[in-house]
Amino acid sequence: MKRFLLALLCALTAFGALAADTAKAAPKGDAARGQAIVATVCVACHGLDGNSPIPVNPKLAGQHPEYLLKQMKNFKAVGGNPPERVNAIMNGMIAAYDEGQMRDLSAYFASQARKGEAAKSRETIEFGQKLYRAGDLSKGLPACAACHGPAGAGLPAQYPRLGGQYAEYTEAQLKSFREGSRSNDANKMMRMVAIKMTDAEIKAVSDYIAGLR
Ligand code: HEC
Ligand code: HEC
Repeated sequence: MKRFLLALLCALTAFGALAADTAKAAPKGDAARGQAIVATVCVACHGLDGNSPIPVNPKLAGQHPEYLLKQMKNFKAVGGNPPERVNAIMNGMIAAYDEGQMRDLSAYFASQARKGEAAKSRETIEFGQKLYRAGDLSKGLPACAACHGPAGAGLPAQYPRLGGQYAEYTEAQLKSFREGSRSNDANKMMRMVAIKMTDAEIKAVSDYIAGLR
């Protein structure tokens, strides 16, 4: 019952955020213009179609454009302040682009199809699935599915798609949220989740997510 209420609460919060976002509908990006930048710059690490060839670079293909735009804005330092999301590579990569170009880039990556991965560890797949779908009530760990959806598709505009992402990247992000070195999540939504997780739980759930579609 408690779990159901938690899921419901998340769904309601998400719905409210969604409604608010639709209300202030922002100009849409131009995917063709975005592709031109990707083909010369981002391609080196994220691939032309946003399916990054190596696991340290996240896949961007099929991600919700609102989430992509938010991350790009968070990577960019403005007004002499440090960027909200710190990563030496991306802080440099995004510095040259204005919000219009970020919208173009977001529209392009969002329009690409994500190529999934497969879970690699047979021993932990059930454990990972359980954490993803139900969390762990005994320590107040919420189900990932409550916000990221049962198939990891996320929910625009707020909750990113996770399914098919490299396990290495997912694991690294969960650890960054846990230690607070990634702190651009509104209302500490992810930091409050990650702080309750052990290394083994992070590893199992990340591996499970790679195979989700
Ligand atoms: C030299 C390699 C490199 C290049 C070139 C690069 N990126 Fe990245 N990108 C990364 C890495 C590494 C990360 C993960 C950062 C982290 O761990 O926080 C990342 C993360 C991102 C994210 C966040 C993804 C998420 O799921 O949160 C976005 C969005 C992004 N890059 C967009 C771009 C765009 C747009 C370009 C081209 C203008 C670009 N990147 C060029 C390496 C690169
Ligand atoms: C209460 C809602 C909520 C719950 C529950 C939740 N998340 Fe999230 N998650 C978010 C939000 C919001 C973000 C985007 C943060 C931002 O704006 O950068 C996010 C981001 C992430 C990211 C970063 C994605 C990327 O591309 O960089 C990962 C990985 C992630 N969540 C994994 C999980 C896992 C695993 C669980 C379950 C153990 C979980 N989340 C539970 C709301 C939630």
